[in-house]
Amino acid sequence: MIVLFGSGGQVGWELRRSLAPLDALHPLTSKDPGGNLGDPGAVADTIRRLRPAAVVNASAHTAVDAAESEPESTRARVLNTDAPAAMAAACQDCGALLVHYSTDYVFDGSGDRPWTEDDPTGPLGVYGRTKRDGETAALACDALVFRTSWVYAARGKNFARTMLRLAGERDRLTVVSDQTGAPTGAELIADATAHSTTSSRRGKPRGTASPNLSSNAPARPESPSAPPGSIRCR
Ligand SMILES: NC(=O)c1ccc[n+]([C@@H]2O[C@H](COP(=O)([O-])OP(=O)(O)OC[C@H]3O[C@@H](n4cnc5c(N)ncnc54)[C@H](OP(=O)(O)O)[C@@H]3O)[C@@H](O)[C@H]2O)c1
Repeated sequence: MIVLFGSGGQVGWELRRSLAPLDALHPLTSKDPGGNLGDPGAVADTIRRLRPAAVVNASAHTAVDAAESEPESTRARVLNTDAPAAMAAACQDCGALLVHYSTDYVFDGSGDRPWTEDDPTGPLGVYGRTKRDGETAALACDALVFRTSWVYAARGKNFARTMLRLAGERDRLTVVSDQTGAPTGAELIADATAHSTTSSRRGKPRGTASPNLSSNAPARPESPSAPPGSIRCR
């Protein structure tokens, strides 16, 4: 069995498709009993009760701006750090693989080349710090952590859908031009996850997008923010 947390999000929705052929899939949302990451203890109980072969955590507090305005002890820390830590402890007990997702926000945005797995992290904000601590917590068990960036999908909130909506509402669009990233399709992340989750592929590094992919807006030379390009494995 594979337990999937956050099955209604951009990545979670695509994972429902990509993981289904691998094993019996148990998809959970925040509204399901034992599926709300706001209660890490209940999440761990869910894993210990179901004893799956793998747990895939596609849920997170992804509202970056909102995370900055909250005290760090609250929602972002619970969802992005405490819940993955509880998942890792439960997976350790069950011998389950934990698949977890992280972000380019674990880096400080400096430099002029794509990040590698071994580059030192240096998050600048609450979201990045809580996600960095979450990936560290996840790696306490047998885990795959995918660092992705600029996720887009046919559903959910993302840059592409926002631009399409605004294009229908406004004559002129204003967009920041000081960031470079690797737009990454949720479909691709889900397919890479399915391949990596099979036992023969465990323990090898993988990428979720070409580091050469970038936005149409070029980075300003004084503030390059290299795409993450990476995954960390244990
Ligand atoms: N979006 C990006 O550009 C981006 C970039 C880098 C990394 N990532 C990482 O990639 C992963 C997937 O992101 P995504 O784009 O698929 O995110 P998303 O579309 O915002 O989905 C987030 C999911 O988390 C769930 N969630 C929120 N609060 C929850 C709670 N208390 N309990 C359980 N589930 C909860 C949401 O479910 P409900 O709707 O039911 O609350 C939703 O299914 C995350 O780890 C994220 O940090 C995303």
